[in-house]
Amino acid sequence: MTVMQTSLKQLPRDLDQNRLPRHVAVIMDGNGRWAKRQGLPRIMGHHRGVDALKNLLRCCDDWGIKALTAYAFSTENWGRPLEEVEFLMTLFELVLRRELQEMMAENVRIQFVGNLTALPQSLQAEIERSMQDTQHNTGLQFTVATNYGGRQEILQACRAIATEVQQGNLQPDEIDEALFSRHLYTANVSDPDLLIRTSGEMRLSNFLLWQMAYAELYITDVLWPDFDRSEFHRALCAYQRRERRFGKV
Ligand code: FPP
Repeated sequence: MTVMQTSLKQLPRDLDQNRLPRHVAVIMDGNGRWAKRQGLPRIMGHHRGVDALKNLLRCCDDWGIKALTAYAFSTENWGRPLEEVEFLMTLFELVLRRELQEMMAENVRIQFVGNLTALPQSLQAEIERSMQDTQHNTGLQFTVATNYGGRQEILQACRAIATEVQQGNLQPDEIDEALFSRHLYTANVSDPDLLIRTSGEMRLSNFLLWQMAYAELYITDVLWPDFDRSEFHRALCAYQRRERRFGKV
């Protein structure tokens, strides 16, 4: 291994190890625009998007960040042209099959969140396999939001809680934030400390609405396929310059 590669693996010196976000969430926007700028079909942007995600996953692992959540497909994304939707579903399946061994070797624990039952059967099977195979891994928690919508997630939590009340297993005044959080898809992971959104859009787009209450937002004009280690470094520097007050003075 070269000196260059070794130093890339280390946390850059201007970052404080003790003030890193525990959990980073990403909205990977701009794959299509990236491809267009290169004169390539949109799907090539998604291919490059997968590479950028892999690099970020590895970087989080190298730099000691415990959890990464990526927004891969929203409930609204079904409205894209059919061939793009089909391409994305096939890509997710292919990537999972191709990368599972490496994720096992790197001790990554993978989970998918969202309404998974609406996904193609073969993708559901691959998702199930990846979650089962990695469930006892103790390294980075990698969450992929697929067919995910924040409002839908909140509604399904409400329905589950209402059912418990109706069955007499829960009193309405026992419903607090902690109990509500336990009914979300993300019950096993802390709320994101930092949200990164690429390609300049200033929206949450229905992503982790409850969980993002106190997240720091970092929005960059860089398109997702170009979001590399040095861009992540920049985002972490910006995060560490923020003063997180959680509503206090
Ligand atoms: C947004 O760019 C990107 C997506 C909707 C897909 C993101 C998915 C990946 C990068 C693959 C992840 C794979 C796994 C298995 C986790 P866009 O198409 O909206 O770009 P545009 O705004 O420029 O059109």
